[in-house]
Amino acid sequence: MTDGIRVPIDSEAHILTARQQGRSLAADLGFWSVEQTFIAMAISEVALNILQYAGKGEIILSTAQKDGTRGIVIVASDQGPGIPNVELAMQEGYSTSGGAGLGLSGAKRLMDEFDIVSEVGKGTTVTMKKWVR
Ligand SMILES: Nc1ncnc2c1ncn2[C@@H]1O[C@H](COP(=O)(O)OP(=O)(O)OP(=O)(O)O)[C@@H](O)[C@H]1O
Ligand SMILES: [Mg+2]
Repeated sequence: MTDGIRVPIDSEAHILTARQQGRSLAADLGFWSVEQTFIAMAISEVALNILQYAGKGEIILSTAQKDGTRGIVIVASDQGPGIPNVELAMQEGYSTSGGAGLGLSGAKRLMDEFDIVSEVGKGTTVTMKKWVR
């Protein structure tokens, strides 16, 4: 099984690559089709944010084990402007770009675990996990 796939994000084509790699890893892990789609959607949102707010960054896809079950781990990181108020950014409808403001909250809902570490002027790292049921 493939593990620790790094996808650089600096164009829309790379978002597609990250989506496809994530979906394929999710399928290998035994996620059913709809969950593979949810995972691909969550990857799209964080990848789009990298492109939109930081210009470039990377997504690392890997696997993990917890309580005897396997899961997918998605780490999306950039060295962009950072998020001044993560709690606010996580709220549905909050957008600094005139967007829908549903990317982060939507991705959180689609995954089992969701964590953002961000520092203004340093960058942002979003870590998401989903476990095979
Ligand atoms: N990687 C990032 N770097 C800097 N700021 C970010 C990053 N990701 C998100 N943000 C900030 O968090 C806000 C909320 O992000 P979210 O993805 O939920 O909504 P959006 O991108 O504004 O709109 P949508 O994703 O619905 O098109 C963004 O408007 C932006 O200010
Ligand atoms: Mg967004």
